[in-house]
Amino acid sequence: MSGKLIIALDFPSAAQAIHFVKSVSPEQCKLKVGFELFVAAGPDLVKQLVDQGFDVFLDLKFHDIPNTVASACKRAAELGVWMMNVHASGGDNMMRAAKQALRDIQSPAKLIAVTVLTSMDQAQLNRINCQLTPREQVNHLAHLTQSSSLDGVVCSAQEARMLRSLMGDDFLLVTPGIRPAGVNQGDQSRVMTPAEAHAAGVNYIVVGRPITQAENPLAVIRQINEEMS
Ligand code: C5P
Repeated sequence: MSGKLIIALDFPSAAQAIHFVKSVSPEQCKLKVGFELFVAAGPDLVKQLVDQGFDVFLDLKFHDIPNTVASACKRAAELGVWMMNVHASGGDNMMRAAKQALRDIQSPAKLIAVTVLTSMDQAQLNRINCQLTPREQVNHLAHLTQSSSLDGVVCSAQEARMLRSLMGDDFLLVTPGIRPAGVNQGDQSRVMTPAEAHAAGVNYIVVGRPITQAENPLAVIRQINEEMS
């Protein structure tokens, strides 16, 4: 099975996603299905990717009452996904219920949490009446995630080194905002290269447009996998 690279399949339709996936293999990468593609293509596409042997990260960031989130996680696990996520700000009761739901159906799916969205800066946190700095809030929610027995967090590359030293080696760190050296940053402002993320202790990196919009996606995948090996 593939290593540390998760490709974000941010396509508007199943047809476009399937066309791209034909050019890659489960040995080269894992795949992430987020809101856009899931709303457009639904669970059938997720199942299709799983049946093709891909590890699929279902990135739907569940955030609701514990019972609803637990049920949604069960349904996701039944699709055979490799990893899924919830919002840590949904609280520890919610996270524990989600984890327990996966245990009840003996699912090996990994469950991780989003701490603070990278789009939330200090001003945005203050406006939802959170007086901590983004870094303090990330730290707080990462500990809540760990004490709720989840497998890890989605974090920005800038937080990876701090979280690796605070949370220990068994806690998964999954990091978007990665740009191979020499590639356009696009709308991601604070980026890291795959090699830097690897050095910071990240377990998996999420890369979208630098691969999906490249003239030669396979060459970029090869370069990233070499940097991370
Ligand atoms: O195209 P790009 O490499 O920027 O895609 C990154 C992926 O990671 C997208 O699917 C985006 O939604 C997701 N993501 C992110 N930043 C976060 C959380 C998720 O870029 N904080």
